[in-house]
Amino acid sequence: MEIKKVGVIGCGLMGAGIAQVSAVAGYQVVACEVEQRFLDKGMANITGSLAKLVEKGKLSDEDRTATLSRLKGSTDLNDLADCNLIIEAIIENKKIKQETYIKLDQMCPPDTILASNTSSLSITELMAALSPSRQQRFFGLHFFNPVPLMKLLEAVRTILSDEGAYASVCEFGKKIGKAVVQTRDSSGFIVNRLLVPYLLDAIRGFEEGIGSIEDIDKGMMLGCGYPMGPFTLLDFVGLDTTYYISEIMFEEFREKRFASPALLKRMVLAGMLGRKSGRGFYDYSDPKNPKPMKLN
Ligand SMILES: NC(=O)c1ccc[n+]([C@@H]2O[C@H](COP(=O)([O-])OP(=O)(O)OC[C@H]3O[C@@H](n4cnc5c(N)ncnc54)[C@H](O)[C@@H]3O)[C@@H](O)[C@H]2O)c1
Repeated sequence: MEIKKVGVIGCGLMGAGIAQVSAVAGYQVVACEVEQRFLDKGMANITGSLAKLVEKGKLSDEDRTATLSRLKGSTDLNDLADCNLIIEAIIENKKIKQETYIKLDQMCPPDTILASNTSSLSITELMAALSPSRQQRFFGLHFFNPVPLMKLLEAVRTILSDEGAYASVCEFGKKIGKAVVQTRDSSGFIVNRLLVPYLLDAIRGFEEGIGSIEDIDKGMMLGCGYPMGPFTLLDFVGLDTTYYISEIMFEEFREKRFASPALLKRMVLAGMLGRKSGRGFYDYSDPKNPKPMKLN
């Protein structure tokens, strides 16, 4: 099935990026939000991001105009009814996501493909409330932040997936310029399955005194060639997000490597969430010169 029109639900951090890259690639896009003010904010972010691409010479002025002409905003889910692929990027809440899918299932033609950008929820569980035929056309499309810059897209299939529909979403991923990796529905998919235990282990190592925050970061950057150390990355991802994902993964696998270290929980409870709250493993009072926090 050829995908021509794409619906994106949620125009926040991820949804705005997904709508942008889809429109740049030539798809007709409808971005849907709950309220006009959120839609305006998301659209403004897209306009700003396109302006930066034009400034850097990565997008021509004509292509920016054409991209914006392909992009429509809406606060009415019904405006997505004629989209071939609808990608949901709303709040990470199972109940709210499922309520949205049930509405989509009822209003869309049988061949519409639905996908979720969830980072941690089970795709199989999310699609449970859908009609059996729609379940075969429901996938995970896990983008990375910031979407316009990050190359990777995890295309997640389930045990019920329709082969043709899965091939269509993988093809869509390639057309929007992503490197698509195929994976099956298992908590954390590929990247978080490997990354989360590594990040948690860095915290455990720090708790055990293997080194300071700065030295552990330096060790992994210079010893392994990583672009940033685990604590810098934790602060970027958000400590609350990491805690939340690790809890879900521990629930699924029941293995210690996915269990949240006590320090991570204490930091989240104390409101130290990383860059977004100004303090995490580093203090960002001077954002250009973060200082490691004194945590023990
Ligand atoms: N932030 C990340 O780094 C990241 C990475 C990969 C995947 N994800 C996943 O992407 C999804 C969105 O995350 P985000 O960081 O963009 O969140 P966000 O809070 O920035 O954006 C979510 C948006 O969805 C809107 N929304 C909520 N309910 C809605 C509804 N019923 N209909 C339409 N819009 C609705 C909100 O108004 C908000 O603007 C989550 O499932 C998250 O797990 C996030």
